[in-house]
Amino acid sequence: MVEKRLARVERLNPDLMGMAFLDGVEVEVPFTAPGDVVEIMRWRRRKGRRVATEYTVVERSSIRVTPGCPHFGGCGGCRAQHLPYEEQIRVKEEGLSEVLGADVRVKPSPRVYGYRNRIDLVLSTSGIGFRRFGTWWDVVDVEECKLFGPSSRRAIRSVRDLIESSGAPKEEMLYDIRRGTGFLRYMVLREGKFTGELMVTLVTSEGEFPEDPSSYFEYADSVYWSVNRTKSDVSYGEVRRFWGGRFIEERIGGVTYGIHPNSFFQTNSYQLVNLLGTVSAMVDGERVLDMYSGIGTFGVFLAKRGFRVVGVDVNPHSIEMARMNARRNGVEATFITSSDRDEVEVRGFDTVIVDPPRPGLHPKFRRRLIKEGPGTVVYVSCNPKTLRRDLEELGSRYRVEEIQGLDMFPHTPHVEVVVKLVRLTN
Ligand SMILES: C[S@@+](CC[C@H](N)C(=O)[O-])C[C@H]1O[C@@H](n2cnc3c(N)ncnc32)[C@H](O)[C@@H]1O
Repeated sequence: MVEKRLARVERLNPDLMGMAFLDGVEVEVPFTAPGDVVEIMRWRRRKGRRVATEYTVVERSSIRVTPGCPHFGGCGGCRAQHLPYEEQIRVKEEGLSEVLGADVRVKPSPRVYGYRNRIDLVLSTSGIGFRRFGTWWDVVDVEECKLFGPSSRRAIRSVRDLIESSGAPKEEMLYDIRRGTGFLRYMVLREGKFTGELMVTLVTSEGEFPEDPSSYFEYADSVYWSVNRTKSDVSYGEVRRFWGGRFIEERIGGVTYGIHPNSFFQTNSYQLVNLLGTVSAMVDGERVLDMYSGIGTFGVFLAKRGFRVVGVDVNPHSIEMARMNARRNGVEATFITSSDRDEVEVRGFDTVIVDPPRPGLHPKFRRRLIKEGPGTVVYVSCNPKTLRRDLEELGSRYRVEEIQGLDMFPHTPHVEVVVKLVRLTN
């Protein structure tokens, strides 16, 4: 729709988008703040909402702050650097309280820049960086990611050098997202914030590097080459080779974790310290099932504090890492590969910790908890909507004792929630 109209941004929605009224209908205006006056030239319907796609800010709100990143406003990596951090926290608290029907407080992240220990940079013919906000094909060229920190600048410069000195045409060396052709697809950076160790993973299509790529990243502790032969736009693949260490290490709350390119690790190391503290304070008794354990983030931390832990995850690679992490930290804990669809034993524990992926608990596992779950369940969630559904279902046998939000993702709309559930006695 093309038309020029002035509107004032009245509020922020839970996606941290400015909301303005045009003739009584609400339009989402990205990268704006309450109090901004915007001229909207064009908007589109997206998933039942109206989103401004062409607009200018004609009057800037007094609450705005200066974004820390020069790419902010086009780059789709984050969307709220222009908002005071307290305002971001307020919106997350309001959103969570509404979804969960309770007054939820969100613990702010100790750092709001340089907090990410992982970024996935797109290497493509349209740029090296992150997807442009609202597109899947266009990429904003970046020199650095401020959410990751200065070592991203160095690595981005190195990958540009590698591409340039190959002498190959851009269309051959870099992936064309629309056509599905080209060699280099992603560069994933992972950094131990408390160890300073850096891992660089280059994800490519099938093919060969013209020369040893690791020579461009001599300062990195580990360099991986992974191959994704599929058309799927994912930033992982089969490991072809690595140089330097097989893992890098991160140290959180006295625990050393090994990080591998193909395993999940919580992305905000500074706030992970608080997440671990929150979870362990909610655990009752000494026998703990760490369901969806990943590499043993909670399980190894708790085992180090004397709890008897069994961890379960569907990913055999993560379980191998969890066992290694237990050994590395000199603790006894059992880690088992299994799915939440299988018969995972929940009896015999005092507490079950669940930290499922975004779709939440599998109905089979949820039913098992309802039928024979222990006195305490600690639910860690990154998706308030599926958390609400699961809490409603579990509500037949459990009551919510405590809810704590934690901001693991400043400048983005995402938020983590930890809920302590206690089994009803009758
Ligand atoms: C949000 S991550 C949490 C990992 C870990 N608790 C941590 O903090 O690092 C979710 C985990 O669930 C695992 N997962 C996904 N689907 C699963 C399933 N069907 N059964 C068991 N685990 C599953 C994934 O492999 C992943 O490690």
